[in-house]
Amino acid sequence: MFGTLISGVKEDDLVSLAEEYGTPLFVYCQKQLENNLNNLKKGLPDRARIAYSIKANPNPDIIRFFFDSGINVEAASEGELHLALASGVSGNKVMVGGPAKSASIIKLALQNHIKTINVESENENQTVLRVSQSLGLFPRILLRINPSAVQGSMGLAMGGRPSQFGIDEYKVVDLLKRLSYNSKNTLYGVFMYAGSQIFDEKIIAENTEHLFALAKKISNTISAPLQMLDFGGGFGVPESLGQRPLDMGKLRVLLDNVFKAYAKDSFCENTECIFESGRFLTASAGIYISRVLDKKESQDKHFLITDGGINHIGIRQKCYRTHEPEIITLHNSYLKKNSFTIVGPTCTPIDTTHKCAELPDIEVGDYIAMLNMGAYALSYSPVYFCGHGPAAEILIEPNGNRKLIRSRTFGIASCGTGFRLESISTPYVGRR
Ligand SMILES: Cc1ncc(COP(=O)(O)O)c(C=O)c1O
Repeated sequence: MFGTLISGVKEDDLVSLAEEYGTPLFVYCQKQLENNLNNLKKGLPDRARIAYSIKANPNPDIIRFFFDSGINVEAASEGELHLALASGVSGNKVMVGGPAKSASIIKLALQNHIKTINVESENENQTVLRVSQSLGLFPRILLRINPSAVQGSMGLAMGGRPSQFGIDEYKVVDLLKRLSYNSKNTLYGVFMYAGSQIFDEKIIAENTEHLFALAKKISNTISAPLQMLDFGGGFGVPESLGQRPLDMGKLRVLLDNVFKAYAKDSFCENTECIFESGRFLTASAGIYISRVLDKKESQDKHFLITDGGINHIGIRQKCYRTHEPEIITLHNSYLKKNSFTIVGPTCTPIDTTHKCAELPDIEVGDYIAMLNMGAYALSYSPVYFCGHGPAAEILIEPNGNRKLIRSRTFGIASCGTGFRLESISTPYVGRR
């Protein structure tokens, strides 16, 4: 039963980490992050470049890992931009996106000579131009386009319908004729993001083809080549029954064909081609460990009450309609099985991660671990609800070193110092 979970991390390792650092705890494996990046590269044409979407996992060490691996990062807010810069990412590797940009994020972005900034509407375009003029700087603007339609199904569609994201495709050409671009303030490129959790390689290729075709039209309209095409991504990671991993070999063939069809076209001959990814790069590299604090029966149900739940693993099940996370128990001593409802510590019935998990008949004090928790866990969570505080995070480096990359601390500025949850909880010695 004690097998390898992800790239060399064993269940024994998880137990010793939980005992050393307490729970709830995220454990990330750097080797697996590396494998994921290499796997994504395998699916993309040689000419393509990647940007890591910080929103999937904003831990500074994870951001830094991807920057050190030579890829760009995508920051979707002023906070993420600050995080990227504070993590040591150089401005010229940061692509700034996200709706609702204030003058303050635009200023911070331009002053740090960021790689590109998306504009999501005509108003936002004018704000970016106004702020950049006042600073005497020239923005590299990517126009985000909301495609008129997106084909096929995906976990979370973000285009192809009325949307707060981007400028409607059918309005773009008219709009470009009106926008105040000039020889210096020229349009740098275009960006399209159809959605997340795509499992059909053909849909990714079709979205890519769609943007190439539209970019050609746009380039003709502004009579200039485009410096960048950002195709989005949405590379899926199986989280529900019936979802199968993307076939990266097949994806590569399909995308190579699309790229070849446009390679010699002058509008994009020297254009940088970017794909964005958060989940694919991080999800499988993370494990979340919690401890059973109570066990009880209510009517005909057996409940396990744990010290971590939606306050750390997020509202994914509600938003993405995903299956319950895959779970393992970190002990092998119970032969009897039982069906459990697993709940977290917050005061809402929504904090139910599993409705009837078939598990060994585990006891109060035992640990459970959820797999595939490297993406949209802490970053998609109501961490402040009920005040349990964040979870600690550990990165296992390739040499086996265990690095604490977030402590379980709640910073409260008015108290002068943050109060450390570690100091108020008794260290737990697990039963094995
Ligand atoms: C604009 C944009 N880029 C990138 C991403 C990352 O998506 P994923 O984590 O599915 O790769 C998202 C996710 O919502 C997004 O909205």
